Amino acid sequence: MQKNKLLIILGVEGTLGSFLANSDDIDADILGIDIYQTTKNKNLKYYLDCDFKDRDKIRETIEKIPVEKYQQHLVVSCIGKFAEPTFNSTVFEEEKIYESIQVNLIGTSHFIIGLLKKCLAKNIQNRVIIVGSAAAYVGSRDIGYGIAKAGLNGLVLSLSKSLSSKKAVIIGVNPGIFESTMAKGVSVERQNQAVESTHIKRKGRIEEIVNFVKYVAFDAPDYLTGSILNINGGQYS
Ligand SMILES: NC(=O)c1ccc[n+]([C@@H]2O[C@H](COP(=O)([O-])OP(=O)(O)OC[C@H]3O[C@@H](n4cnc5c(N)ncnc54)[C@H](OP(=O)(O)O)[C@@H]3O)[C@@H](O)[C@H]2O)c1
Repeated sequence: MQKNKLLIILGVEGTLGSFLANSDDIDADILGIDIYQTTKNKNLKYYLDCDFKDRDKIRETIEKIPVEKYQQHLVVSCIGKFAEPTFNSTVFEEEKIYESIQVNLIGTSHFIIGLLKKCLAKNIQNRVIIVGSAAAYVGSRDIGYGIAKAGLNGLVLSLSKSLSSKKAVIIGVNPGIFESTMAKGVSVERQNQAVESTHIKRKGRIEEIVNFVKYVAFDAPDYLTGSILNINGGQYS
């Protein structure tokens, strides 16, 4: 039976996105989006491929979302592109920096703004959760990633300020390092540095992050709009 809420997960094939989609207590139809579909997630009602580097593809993907079938939309952006340091003694890896800003910030902003535009035109309620990173505050040696994640904080604040009278709630969730494929791609030395800078001296557990995101998506009050919530074990340096 079709539900009256649609949960749209950006980056549904990643660690956080797939754990969220696989939760067995989600009272919404789920639409997943990622660059490639690598698993057949049985909980997805819809799946769409989209490369967040490609503006035309983003527009095309938004067009395919059946917004009018649902009274409320929840969007959780778990898109993430993260690499090793992009400044190596004398050289900036400029292409990597710009690509990271494109995917993590510009592509994500483009998608969210395009979807909100479509929903607002049809008077459909939205709650958007933008997963950023502790890198927004502590910076990153992947320079594009650090720039992008700080920019996402601005996206949360500006969208919330502009749209709070239009039935749109916008909340940021900024995790610190947690157990994931993304964390595995980082050198052990950098992972240890990140863990050492937490108060709790460990990575976040995936369940801790997913349960928090679910609370923010389904149970938190609308009054949290415009908030950027940290879940980082005290990773502030
Ligand atoms: N893991 C951590 O320690 C950590 C810490 C702080 C914040 N975060 C943030 O938390 C969120 C979820 O992290 P995660 O660990 O679940 O990351 P993840 O497993 O790497 O998932 C990110 C997803 O985004 C997809 N993606 C990358 N480039 C894309 C593109 N051009 N177009 C469309 N999709 C693209 C990835 O696909 P591919 O795998 O094919 O590239 C992947 O499925 C991200 O926003 C991340 O920045 C993570």
